[in-house]
Amino acid sequence: MPGISHEVRLPNPAFRQSFGREVQGMDMLRVEHLNKVYGGQKLAYRALTDINLTAEHGEFIGIMGPSGSGKTTLLNIVSTIDAPTSGEVFINGKNPYSLKKNDLARFRRRELGFIFQDFNLLNTLTVLENIVLPLTLDGKGVKLMEQKAREAASKLGIEAIMDKRTYEISGGQAQRAAIARAVIHSPKLLLADEPTGNLDSKSAKDVMELLEKLNREDGTTMLLVTHDALAASYCHRVIFIKDGQLYNEIHRGDSRQAFFQKIIDMLSLMGGHAHDLSSVRV
Ligand SMILES: Nc1ncnc2c1ncn2[C@@H]1O[C@H](COP(=O)(O)OP(=O)(O)O)[C@@H](O)[C@H]1O
Ligand SMILES: [Mg+2]
Repeated sequence: MPGISHEVRLPNPAFRQSFGREVQGMDMLRVEHLNKVYGGQKLAYRALTDINLTAEHGEFIGIMGPSGSGKTTLLNIVSTIDAPTSGEVFINGKNPYSLKKNDLARFRRRELGFIFQDFNLLNTLTVLENIVLPLTLDGKGVKLMEQKAREAASKLGIEAIMDKRTYEISGGQAQRAAIARAVIHSPKLLLADEPTGNLDSKSAKDVMELLEKLNREDGTTMLLVTHDALAASYCHRVIFIKDGQLYNEIHRGDSRQAFFQKIIDMLSLMGGHAHDLSSVRV
């Protein structure tokens, strides 16, 4: 095992700010001077401070940081689930927070895909019914839904469980079904919050390989929040957050194994993460 990589850059919270305005409109995602303060005047809690980041079309970005560092808050703001206190979000050049309620709902349904730690499948529906739900909500016809469902099922390798209900399938299968649902409308930006958090290591690896394939073959831009270094090692770039501020970022390069080690080194440099380093599995 190599020691701490010399390529790891020193903490520099302003590292992305110099990224030029000339690329405005070209990025899939741009977050500018984002701040989030929860709660009222007396019990205000500052969860994010001056976050700037961009994701190019087709990029696969990981977001890591100790528990409570603001990862979910950041993802929820990008997901348009939770508004920022100040700062701007542009998705494919559009500011979702400038849209009216109905337009925002449509924007979210058409442009974004979501994957969660606990799968969020509806347990009264079959896998197939869960997968086509976004299309049902968008008023698409039955023929198109069937065709899209078949494509998604084959991509995710879940053809055999399409008629099962969620309590009849494993966690790994449930997450693959949830990913099929998240990509059935070919979203431009896929947002995942700890998608491997409830999975055993084999299923986690399967899920990451599938996400990597979707990113590579469909060019879907992905933002993955994770505290799992193995999951993060599938990303092109990992951004580290500490106490609500950008702390550092590292790029993958050619070797996933070497990247995994760099991520581990960065986590230990950051501290507050020792419990996550126990299970090293590349
Ligand atoms: N709705 C909320 N109201 C008040 N504080 C919150 C809320 N959501 C999160 N926080 C606080 O903001 C901080 C960041 O939370 P979160 O983004 O969930 O962190 P992470 O996902 O990195 O574990 C935490 O201290 C958390 O307690
Ligand atoms: Mg979280």
